[in-house]
Amino acid sequence: MKTLIKNGKIVTASDSYIADILIEGQQIIAIGKDLADADEVIDASGKFVFPGGIDEHTHMAFPFNGTVSAPWETETIAAAVGGTTTIVDFAIQPKGSTLMEGLTTWQNRAAGKSAIDYGFHLAVTDANDNTIDEIHTLVENGVTSFKLFMAYKGEIMVDDTALYKVLKEAKKHGALTMVHAENGDIVYELQRQLVSEGKLEPKYHPVSRPMEVEAEATSRAIQLAKVANAPLFVVHVSCEAAMKQIRAAKEQGFPVFGETCPQYLLLDESYLALPDFEGAKYVLSPPLRPKSNQDPLWNALQEGFLQTVGSDHCAFNFDGQKTIGKEDFTKIPNGGNGIENRVALLYSYGVVPGKISINRFVDIMSTTPAKMFGLYPQKGTIAVGSDADLVIFDPNKTVTISAATQKQGTDYNIYEGFQSEGVIDTVLLRGKVIVRESEYVGEVGDGQYTKRQPNGLAFELVK
Ligand code: URP
Ligand code: ZN
Ligand code: ZN
Repeated sequence: MKTLIKNGKIVTASDSYIADILIEGQQIIAIGKDLADADEVIDASGKFVFPGGIDEHTHMAFPFNGTVSAPWETETIAAAVGGTTTIVDFAIQPKGSTLMEGLTTWQNRAAGKSAIDYGFHLAVTDANDNTIDEIHTLVENGVTSFKLFMAYKGEIMVDDTALYKVLKEAKKHGALTMVHAENGDIVYELQRQLVSEGKLEPKYHPVSRPMEVEAEATSRAIQLAKVANAPLFVVHVSCEAAMKQIRAAKEQGFPVFGETCPQYLLLDESYLALPDFEGAKYVLSPPLRPKSNQDPLWNALQEGFLQTVGSDHCAFNFDGQKTIGKEDFTKIPNGGNGIENRVALLYSYGVVPGKISINRFVDIMSTTPAKMFGLYPQKGTIAVGSDADLVIFDPNKTVTISAATQKQGTDYNIYEGFQSEGVIDTVLLRGKVIVRESEYVGEVGDGQYTKRQPNGLAFELVK
């Protein structure tokens, strides 16, 4: 089966040009002018063709505060219609068990239920000697990044020794260490203090997790990475103070990288104070920050001090899930949606107003995640030999984001009312059309587990 995409404006991290793309089976076999000889022709005149989005930060069916986030089936269809063709989800080592057990559990949850390709990071919750010895086995199974939660005390938080040990061992095998950087001990103390004072509403969530605890943990993780002489990737950077720690390390030549998320670029802490417990919809960690942090984060993306924008998609219903914390904000499951909206938001609020260039947009939402997490050049670009994971984007239409029309399975959308300046028209996953005229036409189960390679982009800076 051959498919031809005609006359689209191909945009990669480095180029923009009008050409045809010929696909045979699952791969791109030619790019050029006046290509022919295909079974299906898709006219992309007047539209952009981007590489499929790669979202390196998702939590499908993630257990949190006694409940579980939205499932693979709905959320990966939402990803597809939103222009994302690969995710890297977080598998978690069950406490007292092995890393392999974590991987197998998540593999079983995803098998046959994903509309798009997927890989896994492994979150280490118990860094005993056996765990450390297992790291190389995970790398052989295509898991080439490991995450440590420096927060969520009493649940999945680890101490500095665990972080240091993983940094050292992961580096030996070409694997990247990632951190959720918040000082969990101090968050816990602040939460207890606020609860004892009867301060129980969602608006106290950011008070319990001030920017200083994020900046401190970011700085500590960076110092430990330097001691271990290992690369570090800081996830969901929410504020200027934390970003500055990463920038300083990068300017000194250390392999320290960071991700931010649409919620930190577009939303602010005022949402937490919405009446009728509506603020609970915006309880995610690190919390939303004062608006003054947004421009510094956009600038850091354009200047290269932050490398990616992951959605941190961890979606819960308002009714029955967020309401678990009605009497106490510390019990609200942390997380929000975004997998369906990430690409369009980044284009609409980044490219359209000129905060980032269109090539940097492609770099941030696809190419750099592919390079950083061992998927490049199979994914993350438009080139002969790469998987035909492609997004045809129509910049001439606009839609308003709303829970009423979304594919995400939850009962609200944190980006309700935001404009999408352009729509995802067509999406191909390894050559198969899974979205046509903005409608999902694929099958759940189209997605495959994708083994990731070690020694990704971060290792280019390791001395
Ligand atoms: O609030 C969030 N971000 N929930 C998901 C888990 C995490 O910390 O990434
Ligand atoms: Zn996190
Ligand atoms: Zn997360």
